[in-house]
Amino acid sequence: MTTKTKGRIFSGMRPSGRLHLGNLLGALENWVALQDDYECVYCIVDVHALTTLTDGHEAREIAASVNEIALDWLAAGLDPERSIIFVQSHVPEVMTLHTLLSMVTPLGWLMRVPTFKDRVRQMDETEESVSYGLVGYPVLQTADIILYKADTVPVGADQVAHLEIAREIVRRFNNMFGPTFAEPRAKLTETPLVIGLDGHNKMSKSMDNHIELAATPEETAARLKTAFTDPQRLRRTDPGRPDVCNIYSLHKFFNPDDLKTVYDECTTATRGCVDCKAHLADGINKSLGPLRERRQDLAAHPERLKEILADGAQKASAIAKETILEVRERLGISIP
Ligand code: AMP
Ligand code: TRP
Repeated sequence: MTTKTKGRIFSGMRPSGRLHLGNLLGALENWVALQDDYECVYCIVDVHALTTLTDGHEAREIAASVNEIALDWLAAGLDPERSIIFVQSHVPEVMTLHTLLSMVTPLGWLMRVPTFKDRVRQMDETEESVSYGLVGYPVLQTADIILYKADTVPVGADQVAHLEIAREIVRRFNNMFGPTFAEPRAKLTETPLVIGLDGHNKMSKSMDNHIELAATPEETAARLKTAFTDPQRLRRTDPGRPDVCNIYSLHKFFNPDDLKTVYDECTTATRGCVDCKAHLADGINKSLGPLRERRQDLAAHPERLKEILADGAQKASAIAKETILEVRERLGISIP
């Protein structure tokens, strides 16, 4: 990696299938841009994906998801020549650091994290019945970041509480064992919140209101046909209200040059929702065309993908090994 002036970025995504428009606009495009100014380390966090496991079958699906997400990342422009791109479990030092950090992390901090409480509720479990691993989720996330000596972490607002814990863990570690790690800072992306096809909730795979980046043009058009528009526009002749219509919001991303036309034709009922959705499908398909082409090329060469991830793991591993040596020295755990 060349030395860039602004510091080192670390960020991660859990592998849970293919990425969608929300992931691209809300995170990935920003990650791609950051490569210009920072040293970037991007990690597919497969061990984090195990924290909410319910059965063995699900565990085996994670490996397939890792590949899908790697294809989406590379196709979107994460560049293995400029950034370290790797899979979390390929560098097992993170698990060593996770264990050591867990010794300086009060349980109370972890039990109070709102995301922990949300997860417990979502999984229909109790705080007593969820795994020990889930409670430690932010400790593993801290290990991710500081193992690679990153200082800047681009994330969405939902991750701010985890970053706060990361800073507290670092502070405590440094106080107990001497200054070792920089306190990592969250870099809040001005995440355009992308609403899903239900016109209401955040676009997400779990709500099935999403469009995959890797969808074909036909699938994209078909998915859009089911999308909600202005609920008060019942007849083709009714004027629409673009300001409450998510199709209009998506036009802002994918047909920015046509916005005035879309607005005027909708509010005067000179265009119907069916045509408006077809227009949006064209915009999405045009804008994602090059990404989809790159993705297909990469998918046709699985050995190339494997090489890229192995190379990323090797680079990450070199940094990780140094950090672990330093931590062991600090803790006085002798090196065999
Ligand atoms: P997830 O796998 O849902 O945690 O998402 C991975 C990244 O994509 C996170 O940084 C999210 O903030 C971002 N993201 C996911 N869904 C959306 C959405 N609908 N709108 C904007 N950003 C999103
Ligand atoms: N918890 C993050 C999420 O759910 C994923 C993640 C794991 C992460 N380790 C990280 C993000 C380190 C930033 C830095 O999206």
